[in-house]
Amino acid sequence: MSRSAHPAGPRHADVLPEGHPSAPPADLNHLDRKVWASTVTRTPDGVVSVGGVEVTRLAEEFGTPAYLLDETDFRERARAWRTAFGPDADVFYAGKAFLSRAVVRWLHDEGLNLDVCSGGELTTALSAGMPADRIAFHGNNKSVDEIESAIRAGVGRIVLDSFQEIVRVAHIAQSLGKRQRVQIRITVGVEAHTHEFIATAHEDQKFGIPLAGGQAAEAVRRALQLDGLELIGIHSHIGSQIFDMSGFEVAAHRVVGLLKDIRDEHGVELPEIDLGGGLGIAYTSTDDPREPHEIAKALTEIVSRECEGAKLRTPRISVEPGRAIVGPTAFTLYEVGTIKPLDGLRTYVSVDGGMSDNIRTALYDAEYSVALVSRTSEAAPMLVRVVGKHCESGDIVVKDAFLPADLAPGDLIAVPATGAYCRSMASNYNHALRPPVVAVRDGEARVIVRRETEEDLLRLDVG
Ligand code: LLP
Repeated sequence: MSRSAHPAGPRHADVLPEGHPSAPPADLNHLDRKVWASTVTRTPDGVVSVGGVEVTRLAEEFGTPAYLLDETDFRERARAWRTAFGPDADVFYAGKAFLSRAVVRWLHDEGLNLDVCSGGELTTALSAGMPADRIAFHGNNKSVDEIESAIRAGVGRIVLDSFQEIVRVAHIAQSLGKRQRVQIRITVGVEAHTHEFIATAHEDQKFGIPLAGGQAAEAVRRALQLDGLELIGIHSHIGSQIFDMSGFEVAAHRVVGLLKDIRDEHGVELPEIDLGGGLGIAYTSTDDPREPHEIAKALTEIVSRECEGAKLRTPRISVEPGRAIVGPTAFTLYEVGTIKPLDGLRTYVSVDGGMSDNIRTALYDAEYSVALVSRTSEAAPMLVRVVGKHCESGDIVVKDAFLPADLAPGDLIAVPATGAYCRSMASNYNHALRPPVVAVRDGEARVIVRRETEEDLLRLDVG
């Protein structure tokens, strides 16, 4: 059967799992503003552009697959978070979502701080000029070397994650003749409504110290006794890709409850609380994320109300958005390769990347959308599964989507909202070469992370 004679239509819609779009969108050429970076648009000749540069030109110059990052959108989102929280709060961008030196410089320009969780992230941040006192160091198993480097560099805070770490950090700080500012990460026992692998505040998981059973209170007791530590606050991160603010509300309530207990027991009012990151973004048209100003208002109100009730001075709030800043700002550009219609099921569209550049679909069952971006098409919608070129059937980039039935090898398609946790979790599976990140702004494109080469692979292979 030829591709154009393979209408997906309603017959194929029956096979869509529940909760997925059961009908093709009215216009396949339309780009939903919700999921695309802010400067993405379709030019009059039908080609999609970002930052004023057409994707066909970008593909020619930088190859595919490639992550195309809208610098203007990134800066605007970073600024929106900064402005929303104002001068009495701090916004720490979570570097794990995506970190490069250019990104660090943009964050610095826009007045954000940075959360890092490894020696590698710390080095990247420092080498791009982020002042150490604007860096927070995280992790459930920081090595002695990492702790030492962080303290020597003078990071603004280390977030302590276990009883052992309280002692370890205190000891290392003291041996370096320093007093390290720290927060203690607690788990407040909230079940965040998100995928199990990215929920982090329930008790049966590896992060933080449980509030339950007085463990967090005991951690505070110990930290306050150690000369190497200056305990500045309590940290809580409930999970990731969360839309519902109620989890944050419960977390804030419990964190403030602990601050009150600390005041009552020790006569100390800790000056800071950190409510972590985790705010969701739109991956498909069905997601409705909140704006930073709404989030800031909600969090600030909850904390002030709770503190008023507990007769505490309102602490300085910090937050750690990663995905909500970088996620929507990039899309992955792929070239279409093999197209395989499976009669009565769907059409498999293979692209020149896959689970090595976006593991999220395989790992979390994440949903994405996709569009034909090198031209428009008036052909009928065809139900597709966009798959990669790796050696397993779980190598899926977009599980269920519609593309025009005249799609052909050589067309360019793009998957939006891939700025967070795609390049940062990319792998060399099957010796794939990790794609470049190309920042585009005001008609100019520049590589900020270059494409890996086969020489890079061979350089590591020293056997
Ligand atoms: N703060 C802490 C302590 C975190 O552990 C995380 C994310 C964040 C902030 C930032 O969360 P965000 O605002 O980006 O949701 N790989 C998964 C997400 C893992 C998140 C890990 N921690 C994914 O692709 O969905």
